Amino acid sequence: MALAMPPCNCISRPGAEERPRDIETVFMDDVDHLARFVDYPASESGPLFRSMFPRPDIDFSEQQKAEIIEWHADGIKEAITGGRTHLRKIRHSDGIVVGLAGWVLERCPKEQATSNKNKTTTEIAKVGGKQKFKNWTGSLEPLKKERQRAIGHLDIVCRITIMSVCPEYQRQGLGSILMQHICEDMDRLGRHGYVLASPVGVKLYSKFGFEAVGQVDTPYGPITSMLRGRQPRPSLRA
Ligand SMILES: CC(C)(COP(=O)(O)OP(=O)(O)OC[C@H]1O[C@@H](n2cnc3c(N)ncnc32)[C@H](O)[C@@H]1OP(=O)(O)O)[C@@H](O)C(=O)NCCC(=O)NCCS
Repeated sequence: MALAMPPCNCISRPGAEERPRDIETVFMDDVDHLARFVDYPASESGPLFRSMFPRPDIDFSEQQKAEIIEWHADGIKEAITGGRTHLRKIRHSDGIVVGLAGWVLERCPKEQATSNKNKTTTEIAKVGGKQKFKNWTGSLEPLKKERQRAIGHLDIVCRITIMSVCPEYQRQGLGSILMQHICEDMDRLGRHGYVLASPVGVKLYSKFGFEAVGQVDTPYGPITSMLRGRQPRPSLRA
């Protein structure tokens, strides 16, 4: 499903494939498509999703699927309205928006962890009931601790909070184009980069100078804590 192009705020970047792709700001109009066709299907096989819904042998009902998609949509909406997340989408050459990435400039991981707690409770309670909420928060606590351990000593970091490419469009270099864009932002700001990476994410982030500094094991695979050192700032244009 192709979405109408938003007002022109696009930045074209050379891609790993035959032609440049457009990276654009995410608007409210994009949310349903991004949740339904990008973020939800991309996250399904990851350790965090599996921790939340640990029975892959059970198919979700249409109603459950709709609720999970709505939960993803709420997360994206919150990122837009919160104003802190730099959210970008990417189109395939066929015009369809197929990827989503976001990062925040983060000063204090401890404060961040506390302020998100209630929102997470409400959102998960809506889709998952008590058991899933318990699974989810049980998985999040060690991640928050690892984040605090890994970046607590730094002043400000660019933390990647979302990175998803629609499964049918993966392995075509789109994730790398989004990462290139994010790394350029990080370098312009002269900040470290940080991410809690899924197993497949580790390969992507390693290509951009992120190094593993820790790991949180879940029953569904490791989540790797990855840091990218502050890069020399690109020289200012004359
Ligand atoms: C991680 C993700 C965004 C990568 O997107 P992508 O468009 O496939 O990325 P690219 O095509 O640029 O590939 C980047 C690198 O990732 C690795 N990679 C991507 N998909 C892979 C797969 N299925 N198996 C093994 N390696 C894979 C490869 O090393 C690849 O580099 P290479 O092609 O030069 O070998 C995508 O796989 C995804 O959305 N995954 C599910 C959500 C997720 O785990 N996000 C990360 C959360 S931290």
